[in-house]
Amino acid sequence: MKLILAILIAVSGLLQVQAGQMDDKAINKKVQQLLAKMSIEEKVGQMTQVTLQAVSKVQGTRDQKHVLDDAKLEEAITKYHVGSILNVFDVAHPVEYWHEILNKIQKIALEKTPNKIPVMYGIDAIHGATYSLGATLFPQAINMAATFNKELEFNAGAITSRETKASGIPWNFYPVLDIGRNQLWPRLWETFGEDVHLVTEMGRAYIRGAQGDNPAAKDKLAICLKHYVGYGFPMNGKDRTPAWISERMLREYFLPPFEAAVKEGALTVMVNSAENDGIPSHSDKHILTDILRGEMKFKGLTVSDWEDIKRLHTRDRVAATPKEAVKMAVMAGLDMSMVPYEFSFYNLLLELVKEGSVPVARINEAVSRILYVKFKIGLMDTPYPEKTLLPEFASEAHTKANLEAAQESIILAKNSNGILPLVKYSNVLVTGPTANMLSVLNGGWTITWQGNEESLYPKNKATILKAVQEKIGTANVTFVENNLFDKETNTAAAVEAAKKADAVILCLGENTYCETPGNIDDLTLPEAQLQLAHKIAATGKPVILVMIGGRPRVIHKIVPEMNAVVLGFLPGMEGGRAIADVIFGDVNPSGKLPITWPKAPNDLLHYDYKPLEFADVKEYIPEWNFGHGLSYTTFAYSGLKSDKDTYKANEDIKLTVTIKNTGKKAGKETVLVYITDMYGSVSRPNKQLKAFDKISLAAGEEKTVTITVKGSELSFIGRDNKRVIEPGEFVITVGSLTQRIIVK
Ligand code: BGC
Repeated sequence: MKLILAILIAVSGLLQVQAGQMDDKAINKKVQQLLAKMSIEEKVGQMTQVTLQAVSKVQGTRDQKHVLDDAKLEEAITKYHVGSILNVFDVAHPVEYWHEILNKIQKIALEKTPNKIPVMYGIDAIHGATYSLGATLFPQAINMAATFNKELEFNAGAITSRETKASGIPWNFYPVLDIGRNQLWPRLWETFGEDVHLVTEMGRAYIRGAQGDNPAAKDKLAICLKHYVGYGFPMNGKDRTPAWISERMLREYFLPPFEAAVKEGALTVMVNSAENDGIPSHSDKHILTDILRGEMKFKGLTVSDWEDIKRLHTRDRVAATPKEAVKMAVMAGLDMSMVPYEFSFYNLLLELVKEGSVPVARINEAVSRILYVKFKIGLMDTPYPEKTLLPEFASEAHTKANLEAAQESIILAKNSNGILPLVKYSNVLVTGPTANMLSVLNGGWTITWQGNEESLYPKNKATILKAVQEKIGTANVTFVENNLFDKETNTAAAVEAAKKADAVILCLGENTYCETPGNIDDLTLPEAQLQLAHKIAATGKPVILVMIGGRPRVIHKIVPEMNAVVLGFLPGMEGGRAIADVIFGDVNPSGKLPITWPKAPNDLLHYDYKPLEFADVKEYIPEWNFGHGLSYTTFAYSGLKSDKDTYKANEDIKLTVTIKNTGKKAGKETVLVYITDMYGSVSRPNKQLKAFDKISLAAGEEKTVTITVKGSELSFIGRDNKRVIEPGEFVITVGSLTQRIIVK
């Protein structure tokens, strides 16, 4: 199925290569011709992006239909010449309604403006087409990372683009290529985890699927890399707070995913809403121009994050006035402002240009980039929504791909005495706050920004409870509602029911959140949930703990009492079914942790720690390590070999290793290749992931796999902040096998 889907996606991409695709030379010529005809007002307008709310009369809510304000919309496009509109106000729309909105917008742009430049609509289609009602909503990024399966991520990208384009929207503010280096951070689940290599590879796979070789194809769009750069390591763990990342660490950990994505042809970049090293990113010429343009040769457009140019004045106070903030951001290299509620950016920038404080050349540069993207995605030729994609929206094939991704994203962290898989049709108690809600399986960016409108979730999708009932029959399932996250409710009833059950599926974790509202002060799971777990465990019945939520909450006190632990994170719309499949053995779990799961709230470790961190005082013992994940079968590794003993700098290393399924069930195994640089002029991490591959093995089957580690993977950022490969000894680790090599 996976293969067929990938082939279909690839073929449909190829067939459309011709449609609307122009080479860059031809595009640049068209851009210059168009630019020559534009007034300065139109140019500044192209750099302005407003939210749908700014042109709406009535907010869309669960009980109220959204209504556009035609007069305001016309004003935005004809008076302020806006280049882009974004977002929803406030809940997901049916695709047909999106067509209505988009048709109205483009009709005005094409019929009532001098140069007929279509408006580029942008949206957060984070784990699928978030704001299109009924869309295929995949596991969130942290789960996709846990699959360690690039093909699944490619498919997720392709399907998300197809459904977003089916809604008429050609620009998606995704993927997130921040690295999640602080487990407290409420946006951790939007990332592919803590590791540079994993984030880079999943990001590349997504872009290939979502934007592909021909972004003008009818089912492709412009993706947006975010949030550039250093957002994912806030010192205090709260959203939109300062990072203190040195230039060396920025280049070694945070820039590589963006560099690789630019090489993949990423067309747009959104700027980090926070600051690094005292410099708010929206004012940082060094990263926006010197690095992004000078070094990476990025050709697309940069867009601000929400209101962030204004915040240079109001919040960060690096600009004394709103006008200075606009000048600062534009001169740092920013091309488009997500203003987003009104037109102050337009007015101020126009003043700045007219008085000569911002050169017209800079405006021309920004607008050229914006128009380049509009041409590149075929918007100039096909501005109206594409109706032919509608039948594919939320198709059965898309749902299957989603289920498959969810199944591979579930991590079995503990399984004492092989308690799992549970025997089907045993008498099971299901309880806990995450047992019977779809919202908790999806998290933020689902139907609404916070994802918490449970009543708007599709009725045909299964919560964990419903999926367990489907699996073993409602008569075999007792459900005790326990729906408060930080207060005990029905504990006594749950304990009584546990006494009568063969096993308990205890569903704990987090309620939904997105961005700043998800800030917490303590990574420990709330006491009420720990108490519920203790009391149920005290019945002596087998307890299967299912942890749901966007970050690894500390559960050290209850882990020893649990017979099995399943880590579900945010597995999406098919997540309930995927979890039941794993618990009852219809799927052999193959997810592995893309982030280190801490044991204590102040012990926020990463697997690629520096030896210094554990020199004398203590050992590195997290609750579960990065890469941890059990299976219902066992795998034995043997015969790790490199093609040479000694390599030249930058030479690829070809490894072979044999993996045997030594158990009784077919299973999938992720082969992780770590490298330790034994000595370096800058202290080197304990080990670093440098390559991975996922394979399937039937019971008893053995495969020898070849994995290539790129020579450049042995590089790091030296004392002079430049990338270097230093000769010497490197140790390769795969499973428990090691191999030493020398680089000359
Ligand atoms: C978020 C971005 C998002 C933007 C537009 C911001 O608050 O930080 O990730 O793309 O809003 O919705």
